[in-house]
Amino acid sequence: MGDEKVNIHRGLVGIHFDRTQTTYINGKQGILEYRGYSIHDLAEKSTFEETAYLLLHGNLPNKAQLDEFDKILRSSRKIPSKVLKIIETIKSAHPMDVLRTAVSALSAFDKETDDKSYEATLRKGIRLTAQVPTIVMSHNAIRQNKKPVTPNPELSHAANFLYMLDGSIPPENTTKLMDKDFILHADHGSNASAFAARVCAGTQADLHSAITTGISVLSGPSHGGAAENVMKMVKEVRSPEKAKDYVTNLLRNKERVMGFGHRVYKAEDPRAGHLKEGVEALGKEKGDPGWYEILVAVMDAMKPYQRRGIHVNVDFFAGVIYHLLGIPTDLFVPIFAIGRIPGWTIQVLEQYEHNILLRPLLHYTGEHEKQYISIEKR
Ligand SMILES: CC(C)(COP(=O)(O)OP(=O)(O)OC[C@H]1O[C@@H](n2cnc3c(N)ncnc32)[C@H](O)[C@@H]1OP(=O)(O)O)[C@@H](O)C(=O)NCCC(=O)NCCS
Repeated sequence: MGDEKVNIHRGLVGIHFDRTQTTYINGKQGILEYRGYSIHDLAEKSTFEETAYLLLHGNLPNKAQLDEFDKILRSSRKIPSKVLKIIETIKSAHPMDVLRTAVSALSAFDKETDDKSYEATLRKGIRLTAQVPTIVMSHNAIRQNKKPVTPNPELSHAANFLYMLDGSIPPENTTKLMDKDFILHADHGSNASAFAARVCAGTQADLHSAITTGISVLSGPSHGGAAENVMKMVKEVRSPEKAKDYVTNLLRNKERVMGFGHRVYKAEDPRAGHLKEGVEALGKEKGDPGWYEILVAVMDAMKPYQRRGIHVNVDFFAGVIYHLLGIPTDLFVPIFAIGRIPGWTIQVLEQYEHNILLRPLLHYTGEHEKQYISIEKR
């Protein structure tokens, strides 16, 4: 008993548990494609709306299809006043906790919550894509005792997100950068949150449950929380000259350098370079290039670790961009979630289509045949 030979795959490292038609990742070569399209082309040439359509429908839309999709997104941004009341009640919690609770609460108000058909789930995913930025920004206003900014149907997804920060229409270049950030975060294969969403969908739970699960799993510092921690790190480093000592100290204490390393990429994360350019340009534009210089110095200090496959990842640059845009640090992970809703949705749909309960085994290594002793005699 208990001594049979079993192969344990801790962390499910290197295990393919299913097939997908959505996102291709080649970790050795640093390749990422959504539906066969290079992330580089999408980041440079597409928009978040178009990329979300691509992920959800499997093909790039024509003009009429994109207009229709965008129209639905723009008209679905409002959230019920009862959800706003819930947000008000828990306004002092971390924005990720508020987001998780609010998305869960939205299920009570969605007319199709229990409809798990492909079409209804797709519609719910599109609604959630539109509603999640409103949740995040409404909470941000409410916790400052301000009235939430009403979403603006005249603006794109990224522009409206920035607009809800303070009610001013953002310039085109910052909108483009935010849009790019959402594109880069839209899906990423079987990462922890998408896998968890699939486990949830595997039990035939509804989309709101699966996305609530995804948000919960994303909140951890090893996953979405990294961008927030990179910002904390950059503030602690304080100047480029101090980066080397700071990094050496962290590594000596066996701590992780945030924004580096990846379970799948052993080459540079292909998303990172797009945001690197963004931080550099934004820093110059805002007359505040110091953050970028610290990031570059941390990268230089981490160069020797490239040999071990530890490269910069997408979260390394994202945090400083958000900071330069005036976004509070604790909203960095929710921004990741905003970008990821189409990805979680399509993965739930894929899971439903060829559903199987995700139920691996645990190899028991404890004791057996112990004698039960009544409580009086213990
Ligand atoms: C993302 C992450 C959890 C992936 O980890 P993983 O695939 O489980 O890799 P492991 O934890 O097994 O690490 C393998 C080795 O690399 C080292 N390593 C990995 N990431 C590191 C980092 N960011 N800083 C320093 N060392 C790191 C580990 O210490 C370990 O070294 P060891 O073999 O001497 O013990 C990990 O790289 C990490 O914690 N990164 C920082 C957080 C982050 O940026 N997350 C965002 C990911 S997009």
